[in-house]
Amino acid sequence: MGVSLRELEDSDLPIFWKQLTDPELQQMAAVTRKYHYDRGHFDRHWSKVRSDPSVILRTVLADGAVAGHAAVFGPPPEREVTYVIGRAHWGQGIGTAALTELIKLEPVRPLHADAAADNAGSIRVLEKCGFTITGNSRCFARARDEEIDLVHLILR
Ligand SMILES: CC(C)(COP(=O)(O)OP(=O)(O)OC[C@H]1O[C@@H](n2cnc3c(N)ncnc32)[C@H](O)[C@@H]1OP(=O)(O)O)[C@@H](O)C(=O)NCCC(=O)NCCS
Repeated sequence: MGVSLRELEDSDLPIFWKQLTDPELQQMAAVTRKYHYDRGHFDRHWSKVRSDPSVILRTVLADGAVAGHAAVFGPPPEREVTYVIGRAHWGQGIGTAALTELIKLEPVRPLHADAAADNAGSIRVLEKCGFTITGNSRCFARARDEEIDLVHLILR
């Protein structure tokens, strides 16, 4: 599987919308935002992050197909990574390959990440890329309509 990152193109957005509104993906990610549900919020969110020079935002390609996106955002020392791979592409090493490439684009350390404590896939992807668990907290998870345990990880 050839995985690469490239700059976003407008034609990626309908694919991201389909991925982010997938109820199974939302359950897994748990801490979802309004832009996971509402097209107006979605459009405003992407237009904001695409015009923010501090955000590193990339489309993830797997064998040339749009598989998801990955990003680094926030001010140092709280700079954070995020990534979403569409369900059709899960379990093929794409998340790990995408995060491996993403963190090469960002020299700032530490980098932070949060995952629902039961999001084993996301925690595994982070650990395979060198992140280590540093703590837990509680957080409201919109997709589950309840408070959940969140795991905090850091790449030093
Ligand atoms: C989490 C996510 C990025 C994983 O992407 P992926 O491409 O399927 O991950 P990979 O194929 O690189 O898998 C990496 C490892 O995680 C494991 N893994 C992946 N999904 C898993 C799951 N649901 N349960 C348990 N382990 C899982 C794989 O077995 C692999 O482990 P191994 O190398 O020891 O065999 C993807 O499922 C996703 O985007 N989910 C929804 C959004 C989300 O949760 N984003 C992260 C927010 S914190």
